[in-house]
Amino acid sequence: MVTTPSQRVICLMESSVDGRIDESRWSVLYSEKGEGDPDVYYETQKKIRADVFVLGVNTVKRHYCSDEFHSETHTKVENPEPFLGIRSHSKMTAVFDSKGSVAYKDNNLGNTTLMVILGEDTCSQEYLDYLREREISYTFAGKDGNDIRKALNSLYSDFGLRKVLLSGGGKINGSFLKQGLIDELYLVIYPGVDGLTGVGSIFEYEGKPDDKPGKGQSLELISCEVVRAGVVRLRYKFHFYSC
Ligand SMILES: NC(=O)c1ccc[n+]([C@@H]2O[C@H](COP(=O)([O-])OP(=O)(O)OC[C@H]3O[C@@H](n4cnc5c(N)ncnc54)[C@H](OP(=O)(O)O)[C@@H]3O)[C@@H](O)[C@H]2O)c1
Repeated sequence: MVTTPSQRVICLMESSVDGRIDESRWSVLYSEKGEGDPDVYYETQKKIRADVFVLGVNTVKRHYCSDEFHSETHTKVENPEPFLGIRSHSKMTAVFDSKGSVAYKDNNLGNTTLMVILGEDTCSQEYLDYLREREISYTFAGKDGNDIRKALNSLYSDFGLRKVLLSGGGKINGSFLKQGLIDELYLVIYPGVDGLTGVGSIFEYEGKPDDKPGKGQSLELISCEVVRAGVVRLRYKFHFYSC
C-alpha cells in the first residue's frame, strides 16, 4: 500500500497501570477519590484531529448500539462494491464488523457519520440492503473481513479520509498490530489497577501461542507527560524492520 504522509493510523487507548482496558473495573483515583476520570482520553482524541475513528464491533455493541441484525435469509453478496451514504458530519466512525451484525437505527454514531467495514463472503446482501436503506456507508476488508490494508485503501481512496484514529478494543487493535499498520500509539495511563486475570488489554491479537504480533516493530518514545491527577500520556512512533 503506497500512502502519503497525511495518511496515518494513530492508535489511542486508555489503560490501567496493568494494561487493562475495561474502565468500569479500575480502582478509584488516589488524589480525587471517587471523582471519576479526569478526561485526558477525550482531550487527546480532540488534539489528534482525526478524520475517522475506527472501532471493533464489540466496543460498538457495548457503548453505542446492542441491537442485533436478523434476517430470515442469507444471500451471498455478488458485487461487493463500497457504498457512500449521506455524510452529515465532518468526522466518520468506521466499525469493523465482518458479518454485519448490528441493527443501527440511522447513520449517526456519537456525532459522527457511521460506516461499516464488512467481509465480502461473511456478510449478507440483506445486511447491505439494510445499511443502504439507512444511508449507512460501507466498504470491505477482503473476503473474511481481515484484510485491513484493503479497507484502509478504501477509506483513503473511496471516502477521501486521511488521518485514522484506531480506538479499540483490543482485538481490532491486535489485528492492526499484526498487519504492521499502526504509525503511532498514544497511551493514556490511568493511575488505577484492574488486577483480574483474563481481562482485555490494549492489544489482543487472536493467534496461535507462538505468534508474535509485534515482531519486526519497535517503539520510539516521542513524549511522556504527567497530565493531571496522576494520569500519564505516552506517545510512541512505530518503526518497522525486517527480521
Ligand atoms: N480503554 C479504552 O481506551 C477502550 C477503547 C475501546 C474499547 N474498550 C473496551 O474494549 C472492549 C472490547 O474490546 P474487544 O477486544 O473485545 O473487541 P473489539 O476490538 O471492540 O471488537 C472485536 C470484534 O471486531 C470484529 N472484527 C472485524 N474485523 C476484525 C479484524 N480484522 N480483526 C479483529 N476483529 C475484527 C470481530 O467480530 P466479528 O468476527 O464478528 O466481525 C471481533 O470479535 C470493551 O469492553 C470496551 O469497553 C476500551
